[in-house]
Formats: sequence, C-alpha cells, structure tokens
Amino acid sequence: MQKVVKKDFKSFQGEIIIPADKSMSHRAIIFSSLAKGKSVIKNFSDGQDPNSTLRIFQNLGVNIEQTGNTIIINSNGGLEQYKFPLDCGNSGTTMRLVSGVLAGQSFKSKLIGDESLSKRPMKRIIEPLTMMGANITSNDNKAPIEIYPTELHAIDYISKIASAQVKSCILLAGLRVKDGITSVSEPFISRNHTEILLKHMGADISVEGTKVSIKKSELRPINIEIFGDISSAAYFMATALIIPNSQITLKNIGLNPTRTGIIEIIKKMGADIQILDERNVCGELVGDIKVSYSELTGCEISGEIIPRLIDEIPIIAVLATQAQGQTIIKNAQELRNKESDRIKAIVSELQKTGADIEETADGMIINGKTTLKGGCEVETYNDHRLAMSLYIAGLICKNEITVNGFEWANISFPTFEKLINELKA
Ligand code: S3P
Repeated sequence: MQKVVKKDFKSFQGEIIIPADKSMSHRAIIFSSLAKGKSVIKNFSDGQDPNSTLRIFQNLGVNIEQTGNTIIINSNGGLEQYKFPLDCGNSGTTMRLVSGVLAGQSFKSKLIGDESLSKRPMKRIIEPLTMMGANITSNDNKAPIEIYPTELHAIDYISKIASAQVKSCILLAGLRVKDGITSVSEPFISRNHTEILLKHMGADISVEGTKVSIKKSELRPINIEIFGDISSAAYFMATALIIPNSQITLKNIGLNPTRTGIIEIIKKMGADIQILDERNVCGELVGDIKVSYSELTGCEISGEIIPRLIDEIPIIAVLATQAQGQTIIKNAQELRNKESDRIKAIVSELQKTGADIEETADGMIINGKTTLKGGCEVETYNDHRLAMSLYIAGLICKNEITVNGFEWANISFPTFEKLINELKA
C-alpha cells in the first residue's frame, strides 16, 4: 500500500493512549499458556506479531478466547502436538521464544515464518538449545525449524550478544529442565520482561548482574493489564520534538529501564520531556510522558544503551536529521539482523529525502540540522519500524513523500496513522 505523507497541519497537540506493549503481549500469552488455571490478559496488542503467538498456542491445544482486547486463557499447563507447521509470520520474538518452549516437549513441532523471518539468524537459539540436548533441524540455521522430542539438561550459557529473545528462549527451556540450574549471561542487559513476569508468576528465577538463572517451576496464572509500548510511543515523542509548537502527552507507557534508552538519549539531545504519574504494574514501571518541541543537538549513542533502544534507532535517525551537529550511532550491528537490515534501509531512504546520513559497519553518522526536501518515494523493506519512521520523516519534508509498503506498520501498530491524525492541530 502506498501512503502519501504531507504537511497538512500546523503542530501536534493533545493526549493519546499508546497501544499495548508487543514484548509483554507475547510473554503474557506464552507464560499464561504454561500456567495451570485461568489467566486474564487485558489490553492485549492488536499488532499482527502478538497475534501470531496467540494463534500458535491455540494450535498447541490451549483454550484461548478473545473478546476485543481481552484474552482469557484456561490452561491445564500442558501443550499438545499440532500436526501442521506453526506459523510465526513476521515475528522473531514468536519463533525464538516458542522454540524454547517446544524444545523440551514430548512431541515434534515445525516452526515457519514469512520471507523476512525466514532470512533471519536462528543459530543464536539453535546453538544453546542443542547444548541443552535439544534435537533441532533447520535450513542452515534459518527457518523452517523442526524440533524433535528429547529431554533437556541445564547449561550455563554465555551469550555473545545482548538479546532478550535469546535469553528468554533459554530461560523458557530451562523452566522445563528436571534437575539443575539453567543460566544465561549477556554482555549488557537486554529487556528483562521475561525475568519480571516469570518471577511474578512464581518461577524460581534469580538475577545477578547480567546473569539470569532459572530452575524447574510451576507457573501461577495471571491477571494483567498490558501497558503501552514505549517503542510505539517513540514515534510520537519524535513528532512532538521536531514539529515547532507541538506538545503532546502519551498515556500509560511502560518505563522499564531496560527499554528507556530512548528517553535518556533525547534528554541528552536537549528534549523538553517530563514523566508524570509513575506507577507499578505487575513489577513493571508505568507512567505518562509529556513532550514538547525542542531545539536538539546531536550526540553519540553507543555501548550498553544500544540494547535498551535497539528498536528505536530508525526513528532516532529521523530525529537526528533535525538536531544541530553530528549524531554518531555505534555498536548497533544487531540492527542488520532485524526485520530488514535497518542500518542500510534507514540510511538509503533518508538520503532520498535529503538527509545528510551515512552508513558505517555498526551504525550510522547523521549531520544536522537539515531541511528534508522530500518529493520522493521511499521503501519500507517489509519492515514496520521503517514504515512508521519514514512516515514521521514525511511530516517534516518540504514536499510530500510516498511511503511504499506502509501496511507493514500493522505488524506492531495498526492504529498508528489514526492516532497521528487525532493529534494534528
Ligand atoms: C524483543 C527483543 C529484541 C527486539 C524485538 C523484541 C523481545 O530483539 O528487537 O523487537 O520481545 O524479546 P533481540 O532480542 O533480538 O535483540
């Protein structure tokens, strides 16, 4: 779908509720399916990715009912074989976390994904699961993945990358290991929703620095209302920051420090941002964010903060075009393994709009402030974060732009454009 984006507003004003967090929606479905009893999940994401996870657990025999955004799960704590391939769609989180769940089962499963997911690296989970004793075949360490029944044993795994998907996969496999402690360490801390929610549901899990350890545990069902996704909120923060006279309030946002790298960076760039009404939901920090147009300056983004803002880098690149001076993003080579090669993709498409941006091996360098001239077509590379970031870039282009493949935004944020339009003043 082609989407024409143009400057048909003066500024952005008002208050919106940001839709449910994608990472939490996946985890709520997976963990509730493994917990014996009735779980209630309110404000479940309407993105396509969490719905891929939901359908998979229905296929695995779990009783899951959906009324609007409320999900009721009645589980006996066990899963049943599904004779057909389990379709993870575009979702890396689904494929990697579900592999951890299926590795220790007494039945065979096959996981498949769409074209983009089928190109993404799965060695990062196949390797540790195999060390645990899993019997897995794949297409040269990519999907489709076939998982055969075996019994797993505990390992102490040191991951070379900071990845919540890898960490969660190993912890979910470790949850089923009869004896011993399964541990996973990572170079920097990645998002820790798995640790927090599993603990909340009664798992025997402990954290020491960047090492997480788990023992076989029975999970208790949950009653949870999922908070708003900071990765979705990021597009709106950026809009308010770069469009003169804007001021918006984003309600009910997850503020877990393993996700708030974006807030730390925009503060460093000079953003006028306030966090209001902080509260706690199932062990997670939640609050509202008020953000206003600001004169930004460039900065360096590298090291431990990268996993805490990994999904926000495409929109940070857009922001940086409007910041005075140079923004250097380093140590972000993991971006090349996302739904698209996000370094190559955002650099090439922002260049078309007139941005001064260049690719480096592990990131990018942006010089600002630049007036984006637009008047071009940009590509989304089947990637939701590209679709939304380029749409926001379109709002500040002098001439309208056409975003090809804008429908990919539905992967995480089907109401994105509707909410943008509600804030136009
Ligand atoms: C996610 C972890 C991150 C992130 C992805 C969601 C999760 O991936 O990019 O959008 O929910 O665990 P990695 O673990 O591969 O860094």
